[in-house]
Amino acid sequence: MSRPVFAIGLSIALSGIIPWAAHAQEPAEASASDPAESPAEIARLEYEQVMALTPDPENGRRVYLTCAVCHRPEGWGAPDGTYPQIAGQLRTVIIKQLADIRARNRDNPLMYPFSVPRILGGPQSVADVAAYVAQLPMTPENGVGPGVDLPLGQEVYAEHCSKCHGENGEGNEVEHIPAIAGQHYLYLMRQFDAIRTGRRKNSDPKMVKQIDGFTPRHQAAVLDYTARLRPPEGKLAEAGWTNPDFPSYVRDPMGMPPMPPMPAGLMEAPPSPEPPAYPSVPPAR
Ligand code: HEC
Ligand code: HEC
Repeated sequence: MSRPVFAIGLSIALSGIIPWAAHAQEPAEASASDPAESPAEIARLEYEQVMALTPDPENGRRVYLTCAVCHRPEGWGAPDGTYPQIAGQLRTVIIKQLADIRARNRDNPLMYPFSVPRILGGPQSVADVAAYVAQLPMTPENGVGPGVDLPLGQEVYAEHCSKCHGENGEGNEVEHIPAIAGQHYLYLMRQFDAIRTGRRKNSDPKMVKQIDGFTPRHQAAVLDYTARLRPPEGKLAEAGWTNPDFPSYVRDPMGMPPMPPMPAGLMEAPPSPEPPAYPSVPPAR
């Protein structure tokens, strides 16, 4: 019950400030009780539509400018886990997550407004930006955990995760199972919590079952181990790499872009001439 109320509230709140929000609400109007129009089904249909298209990487680069604001021009997100690394993620996973997020089959209030067709574009743009993101090299310096329980992490990973996410966390392109090697530890922790507690709607029911009964120690250990798994050869960027597609992007949000030197003589410019005299106004009585 709280969801529709929230959605209506959000819709009203957004439609006041953002003109496209009313349009953006369309998927939410589908009734979850009708399986043909459930968010999961809407997302599944869009996924299939996107998969049938041929991506245009040049348009992908253009679309990516919106994403770069949060995921950074390199697609590396933030080591504190607020924004995930999406660079190098499997193309099918990116497509599925975008379709899920904009059909509201995965809650992402921060990103949702940027994912709607009015802003991101239709299925072709999803295909394009996913192809662009998938080929970006990954950060060699992702956020990791405390490193105190790695043997346990390795054991848990082999027993509970590798059959789906791959022996080295490389994921599965055909089954759109995310690559998790080299992802920021704190992001992995947040997603794992969301999956375990059912907050992430698009989570895999078999995974939920598999991790049922994990203690906090098991979770921290396996995710620290996962964050430290290295992505396949050739997928990592060199340290300090910046994305040449965005050469003039200001990468330090708190810093200032380097200031160009002040043109010589600017401060010595002569004072402005006196303003012309206004016609005299009759004095107030
Ligand atoms: C306003 C900030 C913002 C913008 C803009 C944004 N995102 Fe996101 N994105 C996020 C956040 C935050 C998450 C993680 C949400 C969570 O914790 O569940 C996310 C998650 C994702 C994920 C899922 C990653 C995973 O492994 O679970 C993908 C894929 C993604 N974004 C792609 C994109 C693309 C492509 C664009 C541009 C069209 C974009 N994002 C624009 C904030 C943003
Ligand atoms: C039965 C297969 C299966 C098993 C076992 C499994 N997972 Fe998953 N996992 C998935 C699938 C599928 C998804 C993506 C679901 C979706 O959003 O479409 C996922 C998503 C995730 C995510 C979110 C990734 C992201 O980028 O958003 C994390 C983190 C994760 N799994 C970690 C693990 C860990 C750690 C284990 C072992 C303890 C594990 N999983 C076991 C299938 C599995």
